[in-house]
Amino acid sequence: MCGIVGVTGVEQALPCLLHGLQKLEYRGYDSAGVYLMDNAGNDAYIREKGRVAKLAEKAKANGFIGTSGIAHTRWATHGNVTIENAHPQKSSDDRFYLVHNGVIENYQELKAEYLSGVHFVSETDTEVAVQLVDKFATEDGLSNVEAFRKMISLLGDNSAYGFLLIDTKEPGTLFAAKKKSPLLVGVSDHGNVVTSDAAAMVDVTKEFIELHDGDIAIIKPDSVAVYDAQAEPVDRQHFTLEIDPEDTDKGAYPYYMLKEIDEQAVVARNIAAHYFDEEGQLQGIGCAITDKMKEADRLYIVAAGTSYHAGLVGKRYFEQWAKIPTEVHIASEFAYDQPMLSAKPFFIFLSQSGETADSREVLYNVKKQGFPGLTLANVMNSTLTREADFALPVLAGPEIAVASTKAYTAQVLVQAILASALGNPGFDLKAELAKVAVEISAITDEKETFKKIAETALKDQKSAFYIGRGLDAAVSLEAALKLKEISYVQTEGFAAGELKHGTISLIEDGTPVFALLTQKKTAGLLRGEVAQVAARGANTVVITSKSLTKDGDAFVLPEVAELLMPILAVIPAQLIAYYATLDRNLDVDRPRNLAKSVTVQ
Ligand code: F6R
Repeated sequence: MCGIVGVTGVEQALPCLLHGLQKLEYRGYDSAGVYLMDNAGNDAYIREKGRVAKLAEKAKANGFIGTSGIAHTRWATHGNVTIENAHPQKSSDDRFYLVHNGVIENYQELKAEYLSGVHFVSETDTEVAVQLVDKFATEDGLSNVEAFRKMISLLGDNSAYGFLLIDTKEPGTLFAAKKKSPLLVGVSDHGNVVTSDAAAMVDVTKEFIELHDGDIAIIKPDSVAVYDAQAEPVDRQHFTLEIDPEDTDKGAYPYYMLKEIDEQAVVARNIAAHYFDEEGQLQGIGCAITDKMKEADRLYIVAAGTSYHAGLVGKRYFEQWAKIPTEVHIASEFAYDQPMLSAKPFFIFLSQSGETADSREVLYNVKKQGFPGLTLANVMNSTLTREADFALPVLAGPEIAVASTKAYTAQVLVQAILASALGNPGFDLKAELAKVAVEISAITDEKETFKKIAETALKDQKSAFYIGRGLDAAVSLEAALKLKEISYVQTEGFAAGELKHGTISLIEDGTPVFALLTQKKTAGLLRGEVAQVAARGANTVVITSKSLTKDGDAFVLPEVAELLMPILAVIPAQLIAYYATLDRNLDVDRPRNLAKSVTVQ
């Protein structure tokens, strides 16, 4: 969703900020803006609707470069997509400029109470925040940090914010604050930076300081001071981001999504290398985690979207290998309508970004009730990893495309490894993972086949189905999400046996029905369902495993341990979604209305 970058003390602020904004594009946004200044007090304020490239054109035409500045990509929440609503927002006297991620729940009340005489030009809650800072500094004579702190103290409890503020009267100083929204300060000897996503600034520095909720930081070209919610100076932990700037580049690929699909074999190898030693012994999962999990009478996996779908597969491992009953819940439901819990629950939060607001809400609630929890996340140092009792990395590497691919397979793999630490899979998991990696590559090498399937089965189609039973039903949900979210073909993922109870009435002549058929126990029944929809005119496309194949199947998957087949079965679906989207001339990496990291509830 919204993204923030800021710099101070750099030689050229504009290119640095624009590059940062481009790196944030994957998160989803609909307008962007930048405020720049230099030490002589010269400045430029530029905002634009649509793509960062349009903002860059406008900024380059303006010609001002600056040595400090703040910039933002906005995903509209309060107010439409207009230039007036884009960030930075500024105070009426042009003194303060502010960018903001998050939501201020009581902004209307604050506006009425404190700012009745002020003329507003936007519909945003952010403009209220910056006008308040200006009032407290300019009219009431508070210092900048006091004015900033006072504004923050007035925000309702449920507000979320990452703020980055600049005062034109104090060139080169940035004021940052955060609550429930990520914000990091990056340090280097050629200027300091602030960002909501470290990957955006990795070309400037890899050394970051993690701000905590309630912190305020004052960032100058050669110093950073952090104060906690009680206004006491604090030393926050520094960390070095372990990514290569090239990891976040597309390289020779036309889209990040294709690169990330192809990376899945390497991800599987990296995960195995991290969690198994040379002798095949598990490592990296402390006894503190496994002991707590073994004490639990039930596991609750909480997640959203693709991560939720990965949880549906993980449930099988925890139940079958670890013998612990496991429930999988949608975070946005659980957060506001908590079901009855067992006596000794243990929570597993699955998340690529580690920032999903709905999952964070559940974590917050269950912590208050005293229940233990573990986060499995791709982005470590994220809120969900920091705030849970335990955290383990899923090691997919930076995932930039909005549609999640390698994070799904990585989450499934790490859940399998975790379950194997609690019980016995009955086979050599490490050896099987090596095989999985080889077979992933064998499937991704078949791109032409999936391109052809996408271009024929989905040509001019407005709707489609993915069906399966058992684990194949779980993968069908993910397969359907992939196709619908980027190609806009309305696709339902379905437990095949349920079709006859109503939904089969949607099948018409030519309706594409993809069947995922990898589970021996239910293969016969699923074949029956494929025949039923075919008899009603469906164009059936069967993706099956080697030992279950029959004449006419569209694709035969290589065989690995049956419970690991979801990792292979999802890959054709990812590639079919990719090629169907290309065929429709749509932007594969940035589907409409979506954001990579969903930080609003
Ligand atoms: C779909 C997708 C989303 C995310 C969901 C949760 O391709 O990526 O459905 O899975 O928004 O996000 P995380 O995993 O970051 O918590």
